[in-house]
Amino acid sequence: MPMTEKIPPEHLLQWYISAGVDETIGDLAVNHFEQRPETPRVSRQKPQNDPVLFQSAPQKSDALLTTTKTLSLAKQAFSLQELKEIIADFDECPLKKTATNMVFGAGNPQAQLMIIGEAPGAQEDLQGQPFVGPSGHLLDLMLHSVGLDRTEVYISNILPWRPPANRKPSESEIALFTPFIRRHIALIKPKVLLLLGGSAVSALMQTNAGITKIRGRWLTYTDEELTIDAIASFHPAFLLRTPAQKKLSWRDFLAVKKRLTA
Ligand code: URA
Repeated sequence: MPMTEKIPPEHLLQWYISAGVDETIGDLAVNHFEQRPETPRVSRQKPQNDPVLFQSAPQKSDALLTTTKTLSLAKQAFSLQELKEIIADFDECPLKKTATNMVFGAGNPQAQLMIIGEAPGAQEDLQGQPFVGPSGHLLDLMLHSVGLDRTEVYISNILPWRPPANRKPSESEIALFTPFIRRHIALIKPKVLLLLGGSAVSALMQTNAGITKIRGRWLTYTDEELTIDAIASFHPAFLLRTPAQKKLSWRDFLAVKKRLTA
């Protein structure tokens, strides 16, 4: 279709939905291809009136101090309920101020498979549950495709709070919350860990390899006396944007199923 042709708004909306856009920031779909008259460039000033939303990531030394704190807090949790309360009471992360609900984890705490994503999205933030938006719907389909469902898995994320506008979590935010998810894993003690996306891999595995390189390979997650088989796969949000990669993810899910039944 030529770029200048009028695209009906409902088609644009469908296109956004299929691309995984799960939040509206206006009532009308905008056609960004439409040619508009040139407007003079105005330098964009950082808004001064919302210190929380526009707060910069903590400086490295501050981040190190708070991460030391989350490390010692995480060690104080001896049950899922204690861990949930400790995270809920932890106020030293600005994400808590912009999020609606904390997303701790959900599913079967006795599950042999623990799935770890990146951070809550819009729907998860509203409902306080992991993977309940479009990514969650795709995750359900992928689990079903290998004969699994939510009663057989436990699901959580590296971050319990939604980053504003679904931005990617910063390295210091990931480092800050990693002790909590490590404790979460130690409390669930699954047989297999499935890491969805690069953030989960970089938080939990000692590797700089990107997700495309590392997905589908069996890895070993260790923590004190724990040793767990782990495998990384693409994040469902990525698959919604890049459906051609679903076939690789399906292989990863089949490998998980095989390892669970071995
Ligand atoms: N993406 C994630 O990584 N986690 C969720 O819970 C939802 C979307």
